[in-house]
Amino acid sequence: MNRRNFLIWVPVAIISFIAIAANLLNKLWNYIIGPKLTEEQEAKLIEKRIQNLERTAGLEKLREERLLKSKIFICDLKDLKKKEGISFVDFNLRPALAFKGTNYEPVLISSVCTHLGCTVQNKLNKGRLLCPCHISYFELETGKPLEGPAKTPLPMIPFVVEDEKVYILKNV
Ligand code: FES
Repeated sequence: MNRRNFLIWVPVAIISFIAIAANLLNKLWNYIIGPKLTEEQEAKLIEKRIQNLERTAGLEKLREERLLKSKIFICDLKDLKKKEGISFVDFNLRPALAFKGTNYEPVLISSVCTHLGCTVQNKLNKGRLLCPCHISYFELETGKPLEGPAKTPLPMIPFVVEDEKVYILKNV
């Protein structure tokens, strides 16, 4: 390399090195302090955090209620429908449904599919409960599997009716 080339390439190499180092430092800085958010993004993030906290608080309230009580109010008897279930969570915090049965008695049944655990739909499909994941049908009144890959019945939820109100009972 002659002297002229050397004088051209040395500044180019130095500038390139500084640019790469600055880029790396910038990335490191962003990694440490996190990305810069606009006010709108920050507001959304805070809103999400609040929602998560509320969800956690709601879950804790349900847990506490289940620890302290032996029965939990689900709905008024008059609100039960034949074709559309009221969603609730059972004593083990698993999803379940409440219907009005064929003889107007309440039917409370787990909505956790016994195949692979998807949630059964709350609206009846041709008078049967449907798990849409792999298409299993269950009989509403007994939870018995009728069609599809599920082979075990949906568990029925113990309940009591007092003063026209439906309560679920703690399993003993
Ligand atoms: S999880 Fe319900 S049919 Fe598979």
